[in-house]
Amino acid sequence: MAVIDIIKKAETKHDLTRQEIVELLKTDEHDAELFAAADRVRKQFVGDEVHLRGLIEFTNCCSQNCLYCGLRQDNVKLERYRLEPETIIEFASKAASDGYKTVVLQAGEGEFYSREEMLQIIKSIKALDVAITLSIGEKTREEYQAYRDAGADRYLLRIETTDKKLYEKMSPGMIFENRVRCLHDLKELGYELGTGCLVGLPGQTMESLADDILFFKELGADMIGVGPFIPNSDTPLGDATGGTFELSLKVMAITRLLMPDINIPATTAMEALNENGRMLGLQSGANVIMPNVTEGDYRRLYALYPGKICVGDTPAHCRSCVTAKIEDIGRSVSQGYGYRKKAAVRSMAKTVINRKLEIMQDIADVVAMNKEIGLGQDIAALVETEKYKQCEDFATKMNMELTVIEQKVPDEAKRAYRIRFKLAMMKGIEVFGEPSLFLQWIDKQADAFGGEAWRCLITSAEGLQKVIDELGRISESNSQP
Ligand code: SAM
Ligand code: SF4
Ligand code: FES
Repeated sequence: MAVIDIIKKAETKHDLTRQEIVELLKTDEHDAELFAAADRVRKQFVGDEVHLRGLIEFTNCCSQNCLYCGLRQDNVKLERYRLEPETIIEFASKAASDGYKTVVLQAGEGEFYSREEMLQIIKSIKALDVAITLSIGEKTREEYQAYRDAGADRYLLRIETTDKKLYEKMSPGMIFENRVRCLHDLKELGYELGTGCLVGLPGQTMESLADDILFFKELGADMIGVGPFIPNSDTPLGDATGGTFELSLKVMAITRLLMPDINIPATTAMEALNENGRMLGLQSGANVIMPNVTEGDYRRLYALYPGKICVGDTPAHCRSCVTAKIEDIGRSVSQGYGYRKKAAVRSMAKTVINRKLEIMQDIADVVAMNKEIGLGQDIAALVETEKYKQCEDFATKMNMELTVIEQKVPDEAKRAYRIRFKLAMMKGIEVFGEPSLFLQWIDKQADAFGGEAWRCLITSAEGLQKVIDELGRISESNSQP
């Protein structure tokens, strides 16, 4: 397929094969089209608002030894610091007063704070009415659970690379499978999950970057941070070539095309390589920026790589600087918490029980709305039926589509719309016997509506009613001898 057609496919279907991603990554002939497509998808799915997350780099101590990172334990040249819990809370409090709705707590990995201290920090910051993102590395499931219970909402843990061999070479002593285990635990515990990769690690291939992107999608992450690897002379990779701004931007743009409704930061490392890097990121698929709200010399000491931006600036200056830049490119700073839409719904159903109750409520609504659907009225029994399970599987697949369409529906109409959508889907399966046949039908042209496909009608409640009515007619004619 021609590269331009691959971009078109990605923009419309949000799906590419590994080979297609590799082809996109290998050529730079159509980069402008790729970035423009990612920008359109960003606008369509997550809008023009940019979410700001205030980043607190609370300790540069680390007991790991990633070859690429300036915080690695064996880097004796680095002066280490460990902020007191009260200082961390104070920085967070200032960030909240400055209007930040999310505070990101990032640090090296290790036991530099007791469990009690961490829980106290999380609880105190949560009381400021902000969302909390943690980025503190690999922990046990039990620890993740404790932080979540204390109020942490999101977690950032980059997979760095999905090439197991490369990963374990880059992070001696760390085990790839444990990284993946952490990501799954975090997701199961209801965190909004952030991951991502480093672009330009020594020995990394385009195929491997394509695998990273497909991994993000398969994992169902809510946020993806992609950044160039920038060699640090105080590490064993000081002489490495490092990643480029352009390739990082491409990996980010393709990620947007394939995961249209997630949150994607324009990463700080991108701006270390290009003075306009974050704005170019925002114009190529990103919708998040993480300004530093750490104060004083700690910014400089959190030295992952050389050329870090804003090391001599204050939180107030960065906030106004970044706001002006965002407005300059015709975008606006969001006033909300900036949850991923889909995950915001999920976080309401914090436990599996809540989720089941929600599902049962939906079914009750559906049954009440249309008894003739033939699913019976015994809700508890209904949940156990094969037919219901089939509908649920199907509903999961349609979820992405529903999320997208829902954005166009006014808030007060959302619930009614969702019920009608589910009703139409269930009825469709009822009539056609299985989801795939129903999908074939829904993509067919509806002669009665000027040749549009039935699918075009499902974007409004009225359209959905037409679909339901037609399904009723098909059902009736099917039942005639
Ligand atoms: N210790 C935690 C972890 O590793 O997940 C969180 C802090 S760590 C410093 C945050 C991120 O910094 C890592 O996920 C890595 O991708 C990035 N990083 C480290 N060294 C870097 C470098 N030389 N260039 C660009 N990014 C780097
Ligand atoms: Fe430590 Fe994270 Fe740096 Fe690895 S990337 S050395 S875990 S701070
Ligand atoms: Fe820090 Fe511009 S964002 S100075």
